Amino acid sequence: MTARHILLTGATGGIGRATARALVDAGHRVILTGRNENALQQLARQLGERARAVSADICSASGRDALAKACHEIDTLINNAGINDFGLFDDCHSVESQITTNLVAPMLLTQALLPVLKTRTDARIINIGSTLGSIGYPGYTTYCASKFGLRGFTEALERELADTSVRVQYIAPRATDTDINTDTIRQMNNELGSHTDSAETVAASIVSALEDGRPRTYIGWPEKLFVRINALLPDVVGSSLKKQLPIIKRYARSGQSHGSR
Ligand SMILES: NC(=O)c1ccc[n+]([C@@H]2O[C@H](COP(=O)([O-])OP(=O)(O)OC[C@H]3O[C@@H](n4cnc5c(N)ncnc54)[C@H](OP(=O)(O)O)[C@@H]3O)[C@@H](O)[C@H]2O)c1
Repeated sequence: MTARHILLTGATGGIGRATARALVDAGHRVILTGRNENALQQLARQLGERARAVSADICSASGRDALAKACHEIDTLINNAGINDFGLFDDCHSVESQITTNLVAPMLLTQALLPVLKTRTDARIINIGSTLGSIGYPGYTTYCASKFGLRGFTEALERELADTSVRVQYIAPRATDTDINTDTIRQMNNELGSHTDSAETVAASIVSALEDGRPRTYIGWPEKLFVRINALLPDVVGSSLKKQLPIIKRYARSGQSHGSR
């Protein structure tokens, strides 16, 4: 595969680190970004000469401007940065920050970088969504809203750019073993029997989607089946989740902290 020049947001997180490593190992050059300058520099040193760090807050206009200035050579943008706040919606104080980080910021960063991407003969935008971008799940109402939005943005932009050289792809991991998931989330996932992937599994899917260009990737079985059932028969999934609701509410009330899928 041709070596790409990639901007990866959320590079210091669990999925970001594994993805940065997998991309460099596959021969790509990667600009790593996140807000933690020290963590970024350390990661860049570990990854060697094909990696470079640019710290920026994607939620600020100045952060996105800094990235646009540093990224005039890229042909690929991976919108991976994200946050979550597991708990009941009544008590959710992070509506704005979740929607801004997971949806508005990737949209605006994409808009800032599109002029550069459109000059490439084969450009890619990969948006990292979630199974919860297709299935409304109790305890994750704001997160679901942000990831449903990101999935809609991806689909519409891909169709709008169908006559250009820019392809827009969506990758939806299921629960993944990273710090975004608190102990409360992990315990709840165990009790519910939810599967958890390693960050390396997700990274391999991202590299593979980059290679073959497929528009949508849903990681994990049976989650990818549930996504389809929910699209066709949402009441069936709703009934099943209602049975799990007492467990989810118990954890949501006990945690009222941060975590995600
Ligand atoms: N882990 C899961 O179970 C799971 C499942 C499905 C989907 N996902 C999605 O996968 C993506 C990566 O998640 P993860 O599990 O790797 O989470 P993580 O370990 O918590 O990493 C999140 C990354 O996002 C960065 N970030 C957050 N806010 C930012 C901001 N305002 N500006 C710049 N960077 C920011 C963080 O860096 P700084 O804090 O240093 O800025 C960090 O590098 C997210 O979009 C998440 O929604 C995760």
